[in-house]
Amino acid sequence: MPSYLIAPSILSADFARLGDDVAKVLAAGADVVHFDVMDNHFVPNLTFGPMICESLRSYGITAPIDVHLMVKPVDSLVPSFAKAGADIITFHPEASDHIDRTLQLIKDNGCKAGLVLNPATPLHCLDFVMDKLDVILLMSVNPGFGGQSFIPTTLDKIRLVKEKIIASGRDIRLQVDGGVKASNIAEIAAAGADMFVAGSAIFSQPDYKVAIDDMRAELKK
Ligand code: DX5
Ligand code: ZN
Repeated sequence: MPSYLIAPSILSADFARLGDDVAKVLAAGADVVHFDVMDNHFVPNLTFGPMICESLRSYGITAPIDVHLMVKPVDSLVPSFAKAGADIITFHPEASDHIDRTLQLIKDNGCKAGLVLNPATPLHCLDFVMDKLDVILLMSVNPGFGGQSFIPTTLDKIRLVKEKIIASGRDIRLQVDGGVKASNIAEIAAAGADMFVAGSAIFSQPDYKVAIDDMRAELKK
């Protein structure tokens, strides 16, 4: 795996041509498919579920699929997404009554597991589960919609989480989601993030390769 991963959020893709659009963004150099699952209950929007994930697999998408669950409750969807071809499953601590159990459930289903922290969610829920985390996802917008602006206080939070990861001695990806674009990706990386979710910044561009190359160029500076 490269040290920096670009994960386009297919929330901003063309749903009527989803397979083609995902194949196109991967051909343009994306590393991971970020799959935003919203339930109109935990977050105020409604997207897609395991059947769409499975359809992408049968269409021939082989890249890692990173499922970001913005649903409550979480556990019943974990086996379905694992079966549908998810590689990574992340969820919000507020959405699970038993965080440790849900993380273990994800791992028992053969996927990498992660917690997602909203902008105002404190870091203490990470403390006793660091050994089960493969990914920590920091939301840099309030979840529910693409195209929002990056909340600047996230940069401090990234630094604090990066310290926690280093102190744990574990190989945990630090992912940032919301308002990420070529103009701010370098400072997000400098704060300690290594996996970048970007929806509108990629899918709103006529040429996805130009959008991804611009981000990688900023990461090399
Ligand atoms: C928001 C989602 C994000 C979102 C990112 O709830 O988790 O993945 O689609 O979109 P942009 O990059 O447009 O902010
Ligand atoms: Zn997301």
